[in-house]
Amino acid sequence: MQKLAELYSGKAKTVYTTDDQDRVIIHFRDDTSAFDGQKIVQLPRKGMVNNKFNAFIMQRLAEEGVPTHFERLLSDNESVFKKLQMIPVECVVRNIAAGSLCRRLGIEEGRPLNPATLEFFLKNDALRDPMINEYHIRTFGWASDAEVERMKELTFRANHILQALFLEADILLVDYKLEFGRFHGEIVLGDEFSPDGCRLWDAATRQKMDKDRFRQDLGNVIEAYEEVGRRLGIFL
Ligand code: TMP
Ligand code: ASP
Repeated sequence: MQKLAELYSGKAKTVYTTDDQDRVIIHFRDDTSAFDGQKIVQLPRKGMVNNKFNAFIMQRLAEEGVPTHFERLLSDNESVFKKLQMIPVECVVRNIAAGSLCRRLGIEEGRPLNPATLEFFLKNDALRDPMINEYHIRTFGWASDAEVERMKELTFRANHILQALFLEADILLVDYKLEFGRFHGEIVLGDEFSPDGCRLWDAATRQKMDKDRFRQDLGNVIEAYEEVGRRLGIFL
């Protein structure tokens, strides 16, 4: 497969067209951003770690019936994906209270959420990813009602699969963000699943093993991502 032109460059990944109009190659860069791109730093190995992490998780999700855009690893920092028409809505599931939920609703960090809750955010850095609801999605035509239903179904199916997967590695899946797109009329999981877009806590110590280490300047960011990967069997 041949890489052609740069199609799009986001905060952490660059997307390239290929000689197959239905496939893109995505390069996972070492750039690490937080607070809607206000804080950006290069962290050595991050691109490679997230590329391999994402490949592992997306393969597991696909095996369990969540269609994803992932096709195959191409190199340490690149993979081949289906080319999706992205829906600008971020689907966030929370199993334990953390982050913006605590700030918005005054809930103490660490409180278990039963049942798990789901929130939608508009993917728009300039507006700082505001929270939206299903009526906004309908009114502004970001996705059809049937697509929203499917995104919710797949987001919760992923929760079931991933909570179990991480728990086997003694890790709590606190929350995570998924993005979906359309591929020939089907709703497919896009973007990436990596410690950049979820919260992972050590089950015993509750130590943070995700991008909160970067947001909160806790240090050993990539070392923590690699430790998660080792426990899952992705890295040696
Ligand atoms: P939040 O607590 O900041 O709302 O984030 C909830 C989860 O979703 C957390 O794991 C981080 C992830 N997330 C992103 O990765 N990117 C985003 O733009 C947003 C809003 C959340
Ligand atoms: N919204 C994401 C975060 O805060 C990424 C970013 O803002 O750059 O982690």
